[in-house]
Amino acid sequence: MKHPLTIMAVETSCDETSVAIVRDGREVITNIIYSQIDIHKKFGGVVPEVASRNHLVKISHVVDEALKEAGMSFDDIDCFGVTYGPGLVGALLIGVAYVKGLAFALKKPFVPVNHIEGHISANYIEHPDLEPPFISLIVSGGHSHLVFVKDYGSYEILGKTRDDAVGEAFDKVARTMGLGYPGGPLIDKLALEGDPEAIHFTRTYLEKDSFDFSFSGIKSGVLNYINNQKQKGNTINEADLAASFQDAVVEVLVQKAVKAAEKHQLQKIVVAGGVAANSRLRLLLGEACKERQIDLYYPALKLCTDNAAMIGCAAYYAYKQGVRGDMYVNAVPNLKLGQQYEMKSRD
Ligand code: KG4
Ligand code: ZN
Repeated sequence: MKHPLTIMAVETSCDETSVAIVRDGREVITNIIYSQIDIHKKFGGVVPEVASRNHLVKISHVVDEALKEAGMSFDDIDCFGVTYGPGLVGALLIGVAYVKGLAFALKKPFVPVNHIEGHISANYIEHPDLEPPFISLIVSGGHSHLVFVKDYGSYEILGKTRDDAVGEAFDKVARTMGLGYPGGPLIDKLALEGDPEAIHFTRTYLEKDSFDFSFSGIKSGVLNYINNQKQKGNTINEADLAASFQDAVVEVLVQKAVKAAEKHQLQKIVVAGGVAANSRLRLLLGEACKERQIDLYYPALKLCTDNAAMIGCAAYYAYKQGVRGDMYVNAVPNLKLGQQYEMKSRD
């Protein structure tokens, strides 16, 4: 029988210290996620230096916990995977340095992984039969991309945000409304009680046929609305505001994702990233896909936000294609999707 490939993956690109053990890409043995959200909450967002320090404090404990939960030792690990970009440079460096050290000391290979590729790969874990090609909508706190996934490791970026990422817009609007951090889930919850048509915010579609996004205008729109109402002495219906903002964002995401699938004649849309947890996006995109007989895929909520299992899955397919890291791997904060790591040495 073929020996399964067991990968230990490490993710530290933002504010989650996560370590997973994944077998043959899609079988998650363990996926430990230590979230720093409570630490960053009081600052209203992620403080990069604080994130790096906490990764450093936690990383070896999370690695130990993963091995313990899996009932494994390093002898059972064939290869390591690690996120090396995009993300916060100091945070990424902790994971990269740690995995380089482990791989060197244990004389095992490792694979540097693109975080966005990881988000897409979360869907392979969730849906065992899912295979490329498909259209992927990646919507997280740091990224908003519409991508044609041609094959494992082969991506054509159709569009991306020109300013704020969609999760960032949710977080900033939530902060303006005084809701707290992270804003996405709070707005999602509040919006359930509101009327999405109560306030009209402009939908930013940009030029005809463009698959790019822009979310900074809507953020200012909400701020202007709040200031205007305050000046007039009106009370603001927060649920209506949350629902109206959310719909203005979600409608654009749905329209562009469906258009991309139609243009490329693909009957599969795969959503990934933290905002894939949004209930309104799930509802409206679900309806739009049903009308057009497009199959829609999402990861489970735990796999939507940052986690190392998705990195382990992406590492597996990259490993199979021959991608390997070496001691020259560095953190690349603005790493582009589709650029596989090329070895600089043979050490
Ligand atoms: O993918 P992720 O964990 O981190 C990045 O790689 O950025 O995404 C986090 C983002 C945050 O901006 C958070 O507000 C947003 O995902 N988010 C949501 C929801 N749950 C998380 N946004 C809208 N609705 C949600 N239910
Ligand atoms: Zn992410």
